[in-house]
Amino acid sequence: MLKVAVLISGGGTNLQSLIDAAGQPGAPFQIQQVISNKAGAYGLERAKEAGIETAIVDHKQFDGRQPFEDALMAEILPGTNLVCLAGFMRLLTDHFVNKWLDRLINIHPSLLPSFKGLDTHQRAIDAGVRFGGCTIHFVRPAMDDGPIIAQAAVPILQGDTAEELARRVLTEEHRIYPLAVRLIALGRVRVAGERVEINNAAPPAAAMINPPG
Ligand code: GRF
Repeated sequence: MLKVAVLISGGGTNLQSLIDAAGQPGAPFQIQQVISNKAGAYGLERAKEAGIETAIVDHKQFDGRQPFEDALMAEILPGTNLVCLAGFMRLLTDHFVNKWLDRLINIHPSLLPSFKGLDTHQRAIDAGVRFGGCTIHFVRPAMDDGPIIAQAAVPILQGDTAEELARRVLTEEHRIYPLAVRLIALGRVRVAGERVEINNAAPPAAAMINPPG
């Protein structure tokens, strides 16, 4: 059973998708802890509701990134196999990242390596690309960088607003985050340099074309 800690800053809908997946019969992972850097994060309520241990490590109470990251590392329960960032809005430096290398994953609401950073959906619309999406990747010290585990592509529609696109992408986030954690828990994920190899991955059905005609 893979033991997972989830780091959040906000509403925690991705956290919820992981909690729900971990609750399925035969799930190969369990969420044993949720840590927030914000005391008021609604995700903490979700965790409590599910009977999961919570902790708050408020970055504002530390003088610099390294002491904050030390406190974060100290809070993570012994025996944790994987740390999942789910809407965790602090950049982690190599101090933390190297300690958890290849055991630390993130979700980002774009098709990386495009649109790193914030405001991804508006930037995708403005750029005129035909697909937005989301990515689960192993974390590296550079922002929104690292070997990609899973992605979902979402067609961008004529007249889409960032809010509408975000809503449709979020639905896919809730599918691919549990998928990625499950693949890791089953031992099917291997980091090979800059890439990830998935053992026994079925090929996807077909290409998506936008516009279709
Ligand atoms: C998601 O869009 C995620 O991709 C991004 O922050 C948002 C968090 O949403 N990193 P939630 O807190 O999981 O609802």
